[in-house]
Amino acid sequence: MLRARGGWQALRCCASLPRARRAARLRVREALEAREPAGEVKVQGWVRSVRSQKEVLFLHINDGSSLESLQVVADPSLENRDLTFGSAVEVQGELVKSPHKMQDMELKAEAIRVVGPCDTWLFPLKMKERHPLEYVRQFPHLRCRNNTLSSLLRIRSEATAGIHAFFQDNGYVHIHTPIITSNDCEGAGELFQIETSNEGRESTEKSHFFNVPAFLTVSGQLHLEVMAGAFTRVFTFGPTFRAENSQSRRHLAEFYMVEAELSFTESLQDIMQVMEDLFKTVTTTVLSKCPRDVELFHKYIAPGQKDRLEQMLKTKFVTISYSEAVEILKQASQTFTFKPEWGCNLQMEHEKYLVKHCGEVPVFVINYPYDLKPFYMRDNEDGPQHTVAAVDLLVPGIGELCGGSLREERLPFLESRLQRLGLTDAYQWYLDLRKFGSVPHGGFGMGFERYLQYILGVGNIKDVIPFPRFPHSCLL
Ligand code: 4AD
Ligand code: MG
Repeated sequence: MLRARGGWQALRCCASLPRARRAARLRVREALEAREPAGEVKVQGWVRSVRSQKEVLFLHINDGSSLESLQVVADPSLENRDLTFGSAVEVQGELVKSPHKMQDMELKAEAIRVVGPCDTWLFPLKMKERHPLEYVRQFPHLRCRNNTLSSLLRIRSEATAGIHAFFQDNGYVHIHTPIITSNDCEGAGELFQIETSNEGRESTEKSHFFNVPAFLTVSGQLHLEVMAGAFTRVFTFGPTFRAENSQSRRHLAEFYMVEAELSFTESLQDIMQVMEDLFKTVTTTVLSKCPRDVELFHKYIAPGQKDRLEQMLKTKFVTISYSEAVEILKQASQTFTFKPEWGCNLQMEHEKYLVKHCGEVPVFVINYPYDLKPFYMRDNEDGPQHTVAAVDLLVPGIGELCGGSLREERLPFLESRLQRLGLTDAYQWYLDLRKFGSVPHGGFGMGFERYLQYILGVGNIKDVIPFPRFPHSCLL
């Protein structure tokens, strides 16, 4: 049965058609999925190909609802010079079974109206060309009309919905954590400070809009901890900002982070289980909801990634401790730019080696040195190599995908650590959380773009965001 989301509507503004006729407005996807012919319909979209033959005119129309375009078959008399690749059109006609093997349905056009012409000489995208990602990256305002990027954005949309569904289905409350904040999540990353446009000019008397310095958020974690003290399980999924080297293939200045916080959690394994479940559930959803879009990536961008991903979904993630990781690195035959030593941060080269060593599967690294990690991570009270209950999830090709920890819920531990750092005054509100009904808790954050990069096998993180940004260039 044909589903017409747009309902039956009068077709207006089509001069060549009688006003009285009504046509169901269909998205391309609905037309392609229709099981039976459907009388009079109207489809709107952008022309992906035009092929004019003596007897018949073929068009392919795409409206972003699917990777596949709808074939339109028309009498050559309907052709006009504005009907070019890239032009916006409205086609009215009959949806019929297609005699061609490649599709079930096609649109037999009775009227074609060019809504917006497109000069193909000037339009940077060309008909039937498979433009490389590097080429379309130059046109952030037009690249969504290219197959690869439109597939990416549909996948991104499904993955977003999948992440929300995962948490909602598991009893988490979604919290909008602030974007403007004065907390820096204790060194999560370099900050962007915000000021009003006047603040820069008033150099003599510097007064902040909020009376205190304000920044774009680097993590919603501390705000989530507040909420976990009332709702038990919470999550946030929003824009996050770090003034980091944006030339890197895995760093962005503006990215999306999924963060979760769970109360009444005493074991790091519980946090790791949520990370693994989130990863596997959302990936399974994406693979089943947009198979053709994902296939495009696995076929043309990252051959072999499909098998690797399917294998990964069946396999339990590996866990090693930071100390074991350092030992593995020390025994490696490979020489690293940064010599592996207990107490030093794991670099990208180390992360890559560890993932390879464990068989190119996702690897949890747990229990990092106390001195490497922020004040809020729970003290493992071990020694002589003193660690905290922290965890990073490393994945093939990317390195760190998630970072999390148990949080220090014990007031005396937190007080003394903040005192040593000279942060007691700034974090009085955070100490309050440990004074009033404190519970063992923990959480994690996952970089959404790195997640997409990993599942699709995309090398450059700029290719998984809607609008790529380059330093020192005009922003869209
Ligand atoms: O490891 P990070 O810094 O963890 C936190 O901010 C914690 N407060 C999260 C929490 O426990 N609630 O960041 C989490 C993840 C990283 O593992 C990485 O995937 C991603 O965010 N990430 C970036 N992604 C793109 N561009 C950047 N500049 C990123 N910085 C971090
Ligand atoms: Mg981290």
